Amino acid sequence: MRNKVKIAVVGIGLMGNQHLKAIHLSKKATLHSIVDISDKSRIHAKKFKVPFYKNSNNLIKENKPDAVIVATPNQFHEKHTSSFLKAGIPTLLEKPISDNITSAKKIISNAKKNRTPLLIGYHRRHNDIVSNVKNKIEKGKIGKIVSANVMCWLYKHKEYYKEKWRTKKGGGPLGINLVHDIDMICYLLGTVKYVQASTSNSIRKHQVEDTAIVNLIFKSGTMCTLNVSDTIVAPWSYELTAGENPAYPITNQSAYYIGGTKGSIQFPNYKYWYNKSERSWWKPIFYKYENSKLSRFTLINQINHLCDVVQKKTTPKVSGYDGLQSLKIFDAIVKSAKSGKKIKIN
Ligand SMILES: NC(=O)c1ccc[n+]([C@@H]2O[C@H](COP(=O)([O-])OP(=O)(O)OC[C@H]3O[C@@H](n4cnc5c(N)ncnc54)[C@H](O)[C@@H]3O)[C@@H](O)[C@H]2O)c1
Repeated sequence: MRNKVKIAVVGIGLMGNQHLKAIHLSKKATLHSIVDISDKSRIHAKKFKVPFYKNSNNLIKENKPDAVIVATPNQFHEKHTSSFLKAGIPTLLEKPISDNITSAKKIISNAKKNRTPLLIGYHRRHNDIVSNVKNKIEKGKIGKIVSANVMCWLYKHKEYYKEKWRTKKGGGPLGINLVHDIDMICYLLGTVKYVQASTSNSIRKHQVEDTAIVNLIFKSGTMCTLNVSDTIVAPWSYELTAGENPAYPITNQSAYYIGGTKGSIQFPNYKYWYNKSERSWWKPIFYKYENSKLSRFTLINQINHLCDVVQKKTTPKVSGYDGLQSLKIFDAIVKSAKSGKKIKIN
């Protein structure tokens, strides 16, 4: 394809590497350059035959890309997006938007002031199954949504904890896994009004939680429970059911259950449950398998979407505001678990 969108990637760690692969596989994008403070990342620039920079400002001055992906540690997100947004370069920023609400707001206002598109890397929204579920909900196929249940039970092996930051604040399953579920459930069900949560570290005894339960109450009145643990051997998590990452074996189960007055949905093993005539617990309940082809291409879809935003064909699917909402909910979960109180989201 002509006019491929030229994308620079800043920060080539675990996630930056995934983005390099996704850009390589995208038909709409091409890798422009790599930025990393570490010389280790020169090897990737050599592999893809693109320029390497140690500093974003040099890149902007010398060789402006069409778009940039920022995949550096969370505490640097504000600093690392600032010069790109000021230069009017559309920016896909990895999740979470920041490690704190004040700086997240500054990132959003910088993007707004400079009229520059800002996208947040909650890539699950780019999964076709998730789009199909959203469509079905919006068409009213399951009626008014009453309640939802999200499961995120995993067992993280011993070696995973060799990285000591994973045993400390922010490194537990709330910050690593559940943040994605929070974004997804808000995408599907709307704005959250109240949050209540409890956490426990009673099995692993790390400084950070190993298990948490979270109640969300949405503005619409819909209720939702999210149940996360990294110390349960189980098949029910988005990670093990969606097939997005080949690192995880697929279990052909579901992690999301959304119930409405006319029917209910489970996915990623996507089934729609309903009564054929009268709605009644005394009548047979049927299910239809919906279009639920598992997709390994979520990150490529996200890159293609970024290209469409650059070319002004669409607007960001996950905006800075969406990133801020997820961060506020995450913050409220931590506060509620500490205080035992129900927290209102403003
Ligand atoms: N979407 C997802 O599923 C997902 C998964 C993992 C991580 N992430 C997010 O991706 C981001 C990066 O996480 P990671 O696990 O890849 O981290 P990482 O530590 O593996 O990599 C970070 C990289 O950033 C580089 N870096 C640090 N400071 C820099 C600077 N000033 N300029 C340029 N490069 C700099 C480091 O040298 C390193 O190469 C985080 O925001 C994280 O939350 C998202």
